Amino acid sequence: MRRFSVVLAIGLVLSGCPDDGTGPGADAGVSESAGVVREGGEESAYRMNVADSQFVIIVPKENATGCTVFHSHAIEATTIGLEFVVDYDDPGASSITANIAAAGLMPDDNALRAQFEETNDVDLSDSDRSTIRAGMLSEQLDAPDFPTLTFSAANISGVDGTGLTADVTATIKDTDSTFGLSFDATRDGDTITIEGEGTLDGSAHGMPAGFGSNCIQSDFRVVLKLVLEPGEQAAGVDAGVVEEYVPETFPYEGACDDDVGFPEASQALLKNCAGCHKDTPILGATVPLVDYDDWRTDSLRNQGRPLYETAAELMQLHVAEALHMPPSSTSPIDADDLSLALLWFERGAPDAKCEPDIIEGFIPRDPLPCGSPNYNDDIKPILSVNCEYCHYTGGNPDVPPLDSYAAGLLDASHPFYQPVSLWEASVHRIADRTMPPYGSAGDYYPAPPATFESDVQMLTTWIENGYPEEACP
Ligand code: HEC
Ligand code: HEC
Repeated sequence: MRRFSVVLAIGLVLSGCPDDGTGPGADAGVSESAGVVREGGEESAYRMNVADSQFVIIVPKENATGCTVFHSHAIEATTIGLEFVVDYDDPGASSITANIAAAGLMPDDNALRAQFEETNDVDLSDSDRSTIRAGMLSEQLDAPDFPTLTFSAANISGVDGTGLTADVTATIKDTDSTFGLSFDATRDGDTITIEGEGTLDGSAHGMPAGFGSNCIQSDFRVVLKLVLEPGEQAAGVDAGVVEEYVPETFPYEGACDDDVGFPEASQALLKNCAGCHKDTPILGATVPLVDYDDWRTDSLRNQGRPLYETAAELMQLHVAEALHMPPSSTSPIDADDLSLALLWFERGAPDAKCEPDIIEGFIPRDPLPCGSPNYNDDIKPILSVNCEYCHYTGGNPDVPPLDSYAAGLLDASHPFYQPVSLWEASVHRIADRTMPPYGSAGDYYPAPPATFESDVQMLTTWIENGYPEEACP
């Protein structure tokens, strides 16, 4: 049974790789997470210790009738972009502002559940978490493109001691609301720790919204721990980074590659990247990375260079760096997918392999007039579940229709397996599991049906046996 999970979306701008001049942040116009501490008339640069800091929003479940499948959530901002002034001379002149984009947000992992006792009723897998995040956050924020949000603390009663207070203004969906934060601020050597909690009134921002909102309380607990330490500004990520952008495409100049083409590479990349880098990117991602041309389009961060080059850089950053792709808040890319992707980038993102992969034992042929299994009785139902919702007449021209027998007799377009019919090409695409393109990328594609393995077995047998349309009389 599908478990319904409900989340509130608040994310923080990715930040936290020290700006040592080596990361891609170094030369890109990124936002900065930085602060100062003033004491005895002196001012020194401080920054947040990302690893030790925490920003969590707890969304409690409402125990109303019909809400048993829901549960509370602790939503963690995996990374925080912070600007602050901590003024020991004049505490009232202190301020803290978190610039927030939804990209760094993650629903509770099981350790976080253990930390907040309300949320320990259900264990979530990483793919549940990705699905929840991708699917539900935009609903709560009513904004698929995840605008920047802010939390700003002012009227700070003190910066040293316990039982301190501040007023926090939350700007979410272009609406402000204010709540009181109670916090303690302590010092250990040069390190300052601020730990506090407040209650955000979600209803001021139209949250919870949508499906199941009667099962979610609108009083969200905001729990934060900010660990500040001396240091220069840390480069961050600002999804709204680019002001002027005239995309350029970089056509592939080579002929073909012996080892890897787009069909293979996209098998590894779609499931790891396209969950955010959709045709209309979500979760703060700035560009689509779905079609071949997407990879050969100008990068925002490295303008004048194609995206696959930037991708190669970002995927090889240390995982703790803010710009590591896929972001550390998602399931990590597995080693085989990573090496395939890097090989493809290294070869210059070729569109195709020179020689198609020959599936042993399969020789393309004209369809048999009749046989078993056959299209009408056995195959049509399988195609309608697994293929036709993408491959339909009148759909995307790159996704040729496979919704009638005749449609699949047309030539496949891709040089990888030309010249064969679409049905024959399907054998290759099914065998290498690039079709249907099910992956682990959360909501990008629906989960395969339970019958998937037997379905593809049947399809393969049908095509290898000469893909007859009808049963023999
Ligand atoms: C959880 C969502 C998410 C996933 C999954 C994800 N990205 Fe990103 N990606 C982002 C965000 C957010 C940004 C914007 C960061 C910035 O540049 O400010 C981004 C930016 C990028 C950029 C820079 C774009 C430019 O124009 O320069 C590249 C390249 C990139 N991602 C590649 C990838 C690749 C490759 C994968 C899969 C291996 C991937 N991403 C997976 C969220 C994601
Ligand atoms: C979620 C959408 C989706 C589903 C489901 C899907 N496909 Fe595709 N298919 C695509 C896209 C997008 C392309 C074009 C990009 C590519 O070639 O990878 C494509 C391309 C193809 C091609 C190559 C077309 C050509 O002109 O060369 C074949 C063959 C194919 N699909 C077969 C299948 C079969 C068979 C199934 C079901 C078992 C299936 N696909 C399910 C999205 C889908």
